[in-house]
Amino acid sequence: MNRDNISISDHGSEMIAALGKGAYLTTCSGGKVNTMVIGWGTVGILWGKPVCIVYVRESRFTRELLDANPEFTVNFPAGSYDKNIFQICGSKSGRDMDKIAVSGLTPVEGRTVSVPALAEFPVTLECRVLYRREQDLGLIPGKIRDVFYPDGGSGADEHIEYIGEIVDSYILR
Ligand SMILES: Cc1cc2nc3c(=O)[nH]c(=O)nc-3n(C[C@H](O)[C@H](O)[C@H](O)COP(=O)(O)O)c2cc1C
Repeated sequence: MNRDNISISDHGSEMIAALGKGAYLTTCSGGKVNTMVIGWGTVGILWGKPVCIVYVRESRFTRELLDANPEFTVNFPAGSYDKNIFQICGSKSGRDMDKIAVSGLTPVEGRTVSVPALAEFPVTLECRVLYRREQDLGLIPGKIRDVFYPDGGSGADEHIEYIGEIVDSYILR
C-alpha cells in the first residue's frame, strides 16, 4: 500500500472535524490488535513536537494495551463507510472479541510504530506516548464532572490523557 506524507499543519482541522463523527484509535500488545472509536482528542504542538492527545477511560481494553505498549495509531474516516464497523468498535470491547476480524477491518503494518493502521480509514497518524496523565476530578468543574463522571471517582470511569508524539503521518492509497 502506498503512503502520501501529510502534516498536521495542512490536515489538522480535517482531523479535528473527523473526530466529531468518530475516529479509530488502534493499539497492539502481546499479539493482540484492537481498535476503538474515539470522539475526544486533538492535534497540535507541545514541547516543540507535533502531538495527538487522546482520552481513554480507565475501563477500556484499549487502556490496558496502551499501557503495555505505549504506541498507537489514529485513523480518520474520509467519506461514508460500513456503519457496522462504527457500531462494533464503538460499543464492544476487545476483551470479548477480535473487533478487527469481526468488523472486517484490514490492518496495515505501521511504518514507524509497532501498531498497525487501518486501510479502510486512509488518513493515519502514528504516535508514541510522551506523557500519561490520570485525571484529578477535583479540578474539573462540578457541572462537567456530574455529567461525565457521575460515580464520583470510582476510577473505572475516569479518562486518562495520553499525549502522543506524532512520529509519522500519511494518507494510505
Ligand atoms: C462516537 C463515540 C466516541 C467515543 N469516544 C470515546 C473516547 O474518546 N474515549 C473513550 O474512552 N471511549 C470512547 N468511546 C467508547 C469506546 O469506543 C467503547 O467503549 C469501546 O467499546 C471501547 O473498546 P475497548 O474496550 O476494546 O477499548 C466512544 C464511542 C463512540 C460511539
